[in-house]
Amino acid sequence: MNVPIAIIGGTGVYDPSMLAEPRQVNVQTPYGNVSLRLGKYAGKDVAFLNRHEEGHSVPPHLVNYRANILALKRIGVRQIIATAAVGSLNENMGPNQLVIIDQFLDFTKVRPSTFFDGGQNGVIHTDLTYPYCPRLRKVLLQAAADKNLNAHDGGVYVCTEGPRFETPAEIRMYKQLGGDLVGMTSVPEAVLAREAEMCYATVCMVTNFGAGISPEVLTHMEVLDAMKANIENIKILAMRTIEL
Ligand code: HPA
Repeated sequence: MNVPIAIIGGTGVYDPSMLAEPRQVNVQTPYGNVSLRLGKYAGKDVAFLNRHEEGHSVPPHLVNYRANILALKRIGVRQIIATAAVGSLNENMGPNQLVIIDQFLDFTKVRPSTFFDGGQNGVIHTDLTYPYCPRLRKVLLQAAADKNLNAHDGGVYVCTEGPRFETPAEIRMYKQLGGDLVGMTSVPEAVLAREAEMCYATVCMVTNFGAGISPEVLTHMEVLDAMKANIENIKILAMRTIEL
């Protein structure tokens, strides 16, 4: 099988209906089996992976990131466009805005986060100077410009363990440390893609300001509602990126 491009749909991005000739495959990996949907867009074979699985049933800290990335690698994927719903710590990156992130800060705690655990795969220290593929980031920004969508070029994603949201004190700390956005899934997904030598980039959709910045308490429903309101823009951006 040779499917060169994949979309990893995050919160609110569950529907690959834009793909023609849809079919489902199960890919086995040593980390577990992964269900993927395959189809075509603009004459290209595309895979779609629902990060949180059916009915948003898998929380961020329990996503089987290694199985997901390895399954995509095994069907030939070389480029991955991931989507992520995020909170914002940066008043210039408000709700409903797109950000093509370029760095992360890792505050995860309990996730298997590497393919290189010693043993058969050995010990390898992967360079992460460019955690998100510069080439694919450029294409995403070009796609946004082509479609008259505003997308911030660069941003620092703070990855928390979740599944709880942050305290206002944590949000203040992350901001002081240089974070722009906060979410729960980019690590280890981006890291594993780099380890697997795949070109990976993430489109973030800001759904809310972080706890304590926003005057209201935060709910998952608010995040879902914001994603629903902006899903068309994310689809347009992803589709144009595949065309380019
Ligand atoms: N925090 C963490 N993850 C998120 C948020 C948030 O405020 N909004 C959307 N995903």
